[in-house]
Amino acid sequence: LSAERLRRRYRERVGDDVEVFDRCTETIIRQVGDIGRMVDEFSSFARMPAPRFSMENPAEMLRESVFAQRVAMPDIGVDLVEPLPSVILQCDGRMVGQALANILKNAGEAVGAKRARDPVAEGTLGIIAKLDIEDGRAVFTIEDDGVGLPAKDRDRLTEPYVTTREKGTGLGLAIVKRICEDHGGELRLADAETLSGARVSLIFPLTQNHKSAHRASSAASVAS
Ligand SMILES: Nc1ncnc2c1ncn2[C@@H]1O[C@H](COP(=O)(O)OP(=O)(O)OP(=O)(O)O)[C@@H](O)[C@H]1O
Ligand SMILES: [Mg+2]
Repeated sequence: LSAERLRRRYRERVGDDVEVFDRCTETIIRQVGDIGRMVDEFSSFARMPAPRFSMENPAEMLRESVFAQRVAMPDIGVDLVEPLPSVILQCDGRMVGQALANILKNAGEAVGAKRARDPVAEGTLGIIAKLDIEDGRAVFTIEDDGVGLPAKDRDRLTEPYVTTREKGTGLGLAIVKRICEDHGGELRLADAETLSGARVSLIFPLTQNHKSAHRASSAASVAS
């Protein structure tokens, strides 16, 4: 706010240096904004609470996340593969919802980036979302028609602050990975099979047997 005020009050008075003045004040305003967003994201990652397990309906969770994604990016179609299996998933509903939202957001952004690069892709289907039950595990799969995962250093994409997007914080996948691990599950990144972009799977065991063990092991990996 002070930088904005400075600009309003003194812009007229800087004479020939107005260009430098503008560039400097704009940089301050932009970078303070970036830092603010980073701090918000960082503190929500660092303070991520242990999951509170309850009986949830994963089909309903996916349906809700897809609905929210369609509202957030109305130009990008999301095909929800029906019928969805009806099972109970023992999980922290808010966290799994957050994980699905992060993955759908990445998929939408990848499709948006592809369409910006190649307008021919416009109007085509963007994302396919499905839920399968395999070996006592719920497998959410989000496949997209976007730019595809970068070829290099894919393993590093789940590390905090690794991003290829100009406005990304790189925390999205780190948070998803943490949520999966805290549930005794896993996050898988691969190339799409039906479409031409990425395929991301979130795998959660339907029931929790060793709740405290997950947390202990992930706490140890953070400490090391
Ligand atoms: N569906 C996808 N298609 C292509 N690349 C992806 C996809 N999802 C993730 N990525 C790659 O993984 C990187 C890390 O993703 P992550 O969600 O952690 O951060 P981000 O999306 O860049 O930033 P943020 O989630 O904070 O907005 C992305 O920058 C992108 O390079
Ligand atoms: Mg992201």
